[in-house]
Amino acid sequence: MTALAHIYSGKVRDVYDAGGGLLLMVASDRISVFDRVFDQPVPDKGRVLTAMTAFWTDELADLARTHFVTADPADLPPEASELPGLPPEELAGRAMLVRRAEMLPIECIVRGYLSGSAWKEYRTSGTMHGTRLPAGLRESERLPEPVFTPSTKATEGHDVNISYEEAADLIGSEAAGRARELSLAAYGRGAARALERGIVIADTKFELGHIDGELAICDEILTPDSSRFWPASEWRPGVAPPSFDKQPVRDWAEGTGWDKDSAPPPLPPEVVAATRERFVAVYEKITGRDFASWYGVGR
Ligand SMILES: Nc1ncnc2c1ncn2[C@@H]1O[C@H](COP(=O)(O)OP(=O)(O)O)[C@@H](O)[C@H]1O
Ligand SMILES: [Mg+2]
Repeated sequence: MTALAHIYSGKVRDVYDAGGGLLLMVASDRISVFDRVFDQPVPDKGRVLTAMTAFWTDELADLARTHFVTADPADLPPEASELPGLPPEELAGRAMLVRRAEMLPIECIVRGYLSGSAWKEYRTSGTMHGTRLPAGLRESERLPEPVFTPSTKATEGHDVNISYEEAADLIGSEAAGRARELSLAAYGRGAARALERGIVIADTKFELGHIDGELAICDEILTPDSSRFWPASEWRPGVAPPSFDKQPVRDWAEGTGWDKDSAPPPLPPEVVAATRERFVAVYEKITGRDFASWYGVGR
């Protein structure tokens, strides 16, 4: 049995060539904020990301093609159980087999609410990704309609927010148009579904790619790592709602006085535990599924 060739390790995922146009993507428990990875993993975080991506692939099936093939450990190539440092019980639930795509060199962000870097930009210049917005909007305010707000995909350093026109210059106007349409459709469906379950998806980031010439949603889909999730009951304009995503880790890290550039401070066990709980809670809330029944959990 020949080992699966390692292709790439990002901040969160380890990617292997599974042959036949397929990749094995393994979501680790690594957690990053401000593009820096902490030394302390958040147990089961990778499983939540993979489980959510599988869920959304089903939910979006009629309107978006995704790269997802399977996360069932029984359907993974046998070589997957031989990966260094990844015993089968660790692999289960984190690994998914996906179709390899020609990735677009942009991040397809959709914003339904004014938050994060978009709020910061609006506060200083009245614009969002360079486009003027109505005056007088407050933090966390719902935008008149969701907006496709792309960014560059930095191989090093931070992504930079760009306008739609800049994205069209980068990838061509036809691809940009299709990316915008697909991203808005997927966000619209996802946000509506989550809201039925009491969760606001304030914004999210999709990574799209071409598979056999067709645009597909790749990478992770509407997860707490790629999205801002708020409890709907606590949302109101003018305040930043407590979120189910990494915001508490960001807040904690900022509170330590860390410069966001040097090695991050060690995450205290209570922040790790609270973060795990939030990831699991939002998965169960949005999907209505029991996390304990996902592959590899609690064994
Ligand atoms: N279907 C796919 N085909 C090829 N590359 C993909 C696919 N889905 C996701 N990717 C890429 O795999 C990587 C996932 O690893 P991740 O840890 O999330 O990286 P990053 O730190 O760059 O976010 C990303 O670079 C993403 O663009
Ligand atoms: Mg990523």
